[in-house]
Amino acid sequence: MKIIGINASPRKNANTQTLVESALNGAAEKGAEIRLVNLRELNINGCTGCGRCKKDIGKCVQKDDLTTLLQDMTTCNAIVMGTPVHWYHVSAQFKMLVDRFYCFSYYVENPEKRGEYIMKSVFPPGNSLLFIISRGDPEPAAPHYSQLYDHLNEWLAIIPHELGVGKYKILHQHGAGLDRQSAKNDAALLEKAKSAGAGLVI
Ligand SMILES: Cc1cc2nc3c(=O)[nH]c(=O)nc-3n(C[C@H](O)[C@H](O)[C@H](O)COP(=O)(O)O)c2cc1C
Repeated sequence: MKIIGINASPRKNANTQTLVESALNGAAEKGAEIRLVNLRELNINGCTGCGRCKKDIGKCVQKDDLTTLLQDMTTCNAIVMGTPVHWYHVSAQFKMLVDRFYCFSYYVENPEKRGEYIMKSVFPPGNSLLFIISRGDPEPAAPHYSQLYDHLNEWLAIIPHELGVGKYKILHQHGAGLDRQSAKNDAALLEKAKSAGAGLVI
């Protein structure tokens, strides 16, 4: 079983990376073949919206460091996707990756309702996703901010939905502030991440 862990924090060895690594270690202990990808080390572009992937589904015409990663994501069994919260949302690096997932989806006309289109995906439906989200704010956040975080969870749920992936989980780190060692000093959280990673191995 192959599992790819993606760290979308621009900070090296900080909270998101620590938690993604814990999840990968948990999976490795269960016999999985693991690989960590730090998006900050890759040369990646955002989606240009060219639409060519709608003619050759599953393939993005751009040639950058996401070219092979996107293909590898379709041949592994599970993916751990970690991001810090930046401005009440995912990091820019994470969003660039997700935009490129556009190549996996296509539209077909609803056979039961002409003129209405349904999104389909060539992404393997059996893949599991584990999201790891590290944020500075505590939980619960102040009332106004709580709504913004609810929105973030709703947005994350769109990813497995659009990819057609049945199983996903979200693991949160709250209250990290700007301390990059915060996850390393939280044994209970590290254990949670490890067991979430182990849970990906079937
Ligand atoms: C540009 C930027 C924006 C941030 N925005 C938020 C935010 O909206 N909410 C929050 O709780 N923390 C925010 N933070 C704090 C990070 O989410 C927090 O430090 C997290 O642990 C960083 O993960 P990392 O250590 O893996 O980089 C922000 C940090 C940066 C650098």
